[in-house]
Amino acid sequence: MARLDVVVLAAGKGTRMKSALPKVLHRLAGRTMLERVLDTSAALGAVQVIVVSGHGGVHVDAVVSAAAATAEAVAGQDQTVHGHVAPMLRSVRQEPQLGTGHAVQQAAALFPVDAGSVVLVLNGDVPLVDASTLVPLLQAAANGHLALLTVRLDDPHGYGRILRSGGADGSDGAVEGIVEEKDADAAQRLIRETYTGVMAAPAALLRAWLGRLTNHNAQAEYYLTDVVAMALADQVPITGIAVTDAVQVAGVNSPAQLAVLERALQLRQAGALMEDFGTRLADPARIDIRGRLRCGRDVEIDVGCVFEGDVTLGDDVTIGAHCVIARAHIAAGARIAPFSHIDGGAQPVQVGEGARIGPFARLRPGARLGRDVHVGNFVEVKNTIMADGAKANHLAYLGDASVGARVNFGAGSITANYDGVAKHRTVIEDDASIGSNCVLVAPVTIAAGCTVAGGSTITRDTAPGSLVVARGRQVVVPRWKRPSGGSVANAGVESAAAAVPAGSVE
Ligand code: UD1
Ligand code: MG
Repeated sequence: MARLDVVVLAAGKGTRMKSALPKVLHRLAGRTMLERVLDTSAALGAVQVIVVSGHGGVHVDAVVSAAAATAEAVAGQDQTVHGHVAPMLRSVRQEPQLGTGHAVQQAAALFPVDAGSVVLVLNGDVPLVDASTLVPLLQAAANGHLALLTVRLDDPHGYGRILRSGGADGSDGAVEGIVEEKDADAAQRLIRETYTGVMAAPAALLRAWLGRLTNHNAQAEYYLTDVVAMALADQVPITGIAVTDAVQVAGVNSPAQLAVLERALQLRQAGALMEDFGTRLADPARIDIRGRLRCGRDVEIDVGCVFEGDVTLGDDVTIGAHCVIARAHIAAGARIAPFSHIDGGAQPVQVGEGARIGPFARLRPGARLGRDVHVGNFVEVKNTIMADGAKANHLAYLGDASVGARVNFGAGSITANYDGVAKHRTVIEDDASIGSNCVLVAPVTIAAGCTVAGGSTITRDTAPGSLVVARGRQVVVPRWKRPSGGSVANAGVESAAAAVPAGSVE
């Protein structure tokens, strides 16, 4: 295959987005449109990708640099991305923006001189084109053709129309030109075959054509599409390849179009999940995957769940309705009940085999749960290891803790891990039992088999197998008369204290 260089057009303003963010940096399924186009370029085996930036160029260039750094890091590990060496990513600035032809001109100095090499032009705001759709264009260009990706639209308004010999719309006639909406006559505007903005050409020819562009048209712009007429004049064969899947070539100009593509992409991802892994989705239209989700066999996912970053679900995992699960590995047979929030951040969450999580549980970075662990409603776990069979079923906080096997951590209990300056660890050894409403003030160790009585505040290490009670004793005032009306609010409390014999309060 010929050497491939890609030019990504990304200098336009994106006025209709009504956003401070450059258009190509808006996200689809968690990834910017620009990154998606860079991914496609890498999948095609491009040697170099040149992003033409302009509006919001500083931000666009930063994303290109970050992607280049990531590609380098990946290449450092295994040398390849999608089986290819990662492309060199760079950006060039187009200032001012004088049209699509002018944009590609800015990149022309960086085109390769290798004979037979091919340049592919992609639009930064056309994010969902498949690499496989582009391969025939690259082959045509490698054979010396100018290749255009076209699509037939029911409403072609606003797009460049494909002119073919013989004139009939959609005929098999040879492509003879592209005419922009604003330059088209009434008959041409009836043509439904449109130019998608994607073309491939032999590098040397494209460079020569770019040098001859003029801006003598309705918009006084340098149109990239004028190279078609030049190819015709130079007797270079022109191949128009029509794509039937309009989603792949749909451009994003407004939040509404972005939302439509988001739903289309999500539906495709849901379809792939069912197809690839046999995952059972309660409703493929009600799942959002903003990253990479891999599933074992017999996984079931209820409605309204969001997955972010890398998430793996082992065999037989079930995910209840309305869970948000990010950067996490959930082992076989685990059940995540509805409304649970799991986000591993930089330290992916691990949930062990057969664990029971939620409903309404929260697992934060560094939560590592063993087999058959139970984390119930309104329980928060952060930077904590819970060994096999440990349980925290209700209303608890475990932060910076090591929880041993089979520990029971009672309702309303917490680890007090922060002293206002530093975080400290709590160690709870195997088979300890922490009653309800306890505060374990870290650093502290609860020894194996120790029982901590409900309501205790523990500030010192405990002995194995002991019972530890650290709370006020119950006071009983017999035949107590409640204060009658008119007394001040806490008078009753004071008189109760006075009524208690000295020494009975600890
Ligand atoms: C262009 C095509 C049109 C095609 C349509 C498909 C031309 C002359 N027309 O029209 O035939 O049907 O795309 O969507 O090419 N850009 C720059 N610098 C510029 C101008 C544009 O980088 O000076 C970038 C934009 O950011 C965008 C892409 O080029 O990513 C297309 O620009 P746009 O203004 O949308 O072109 P259209 O007029 O829609
Ligand atoms: Mg456009």
